[in-house]
Order: sequence, then C-alpha cells, then structure tokens
Amino acid sequence: MMKKRIVPVLVFMGISLMGSLLAEAAEIDTGRAFFEEKRCSMCHTIEGKGGKIGPDLSGIGSQRDEAWLMKFFENPKKVANANMMPVKGTPEELSALAAYLLSQK
Ligand code: HEC
Repeated sequence: MMKKRIVPVLVFMGISLMGSLLAEAAEIDTGRAFFEEKRCSMCHTIEGKGGKIGPDLSGIGSQRDEAWLMKFFENPKKVANANMMPVKGTPEELSALAAYLLSQK
C-alpha cells in the first residue's frame, strides 16, 4: 500500500522543516545578542528602542539583502558612506547579525 510509505516521508519532511525553522530562529537570537553586545542600539533604533544618530533599522530587512549587509559590515564608509566603525566578528557572528537584521521587516 502506498499510504504506508507516504506517512513516514511526510513525518520526516515535517521534522526537517521544523528543524530548519528552529535553526533559523536560533541564528536570529545569536544575531540579536551580538547586536546588543556591540552596542549598535546606541545609534540605531530597532524593535522599538535605541538611539537616533544612525538610521532606524526597523525595516532594514525589506531594504537590503545579505550580500549588501556583509559588504557593509566590512566597510560602512565605502558601501554606504556611513559614518560608523566596521563591524568586527567571526563569519558566524556576522552572518547571524545579517540574519537578525534581515528578520526586521
Ligand atoms: C556611533 C554611531 C553608530 C553605531 C555605534 C553603529 N552605527 Fe550603524 N550607522 C551609523 C550611521 C551614522 C549610519 C549611516 C547613516 C547614513 O546613511 O548616512 C549607519 C548605517 C548603518 C546601516 C546601513 C543602513 C542602510 O540601509 O543604509 C546598518 C545596517 C548599520 N548601520 C548597522 C549597524 C550595526 C549592526 C551596528 C553595531 C555593530 C551599528 N550600525 C553601529 C551610526 C552607527
């Protein structure tokens, strides 16, 4: 019978999807913690709080993409003529930071 084979496949697909959603949520949390640790909110408003020296990042996820952000972190001055320090971190920290910013839409 077909049914017997389809059920485990569906269960497996469900678990994989849940796993990847959880992994994505964990990455966003890591990025949020990094954002706090680096004091980005001294200058930027995000999730309703923070400073006003730099642009409000509440909708950054619908304005930029990952490639742009990764270049920007490395050289804010060159990429956006932005008056802020380059963002230093491990590749994992920087991609978590990008995931966090991209989740702000
Ligand atoms: C000393 C203040 C200051 C700090 C601290 C700061 N920024 Fe900025 N940021 C700015 C300014 C100023 C701009 C550019 C404004 C402009 O476009 O002229 C900017 C621009 C940006 C942009 C580009 C927005 C866009 O779409 O053009 C991003 C993304 C950003 N900052 C992220 C961060 C992150 C992440 C951190 C922490 C690691 C951080 N900033 C820390 C002042 C700051």
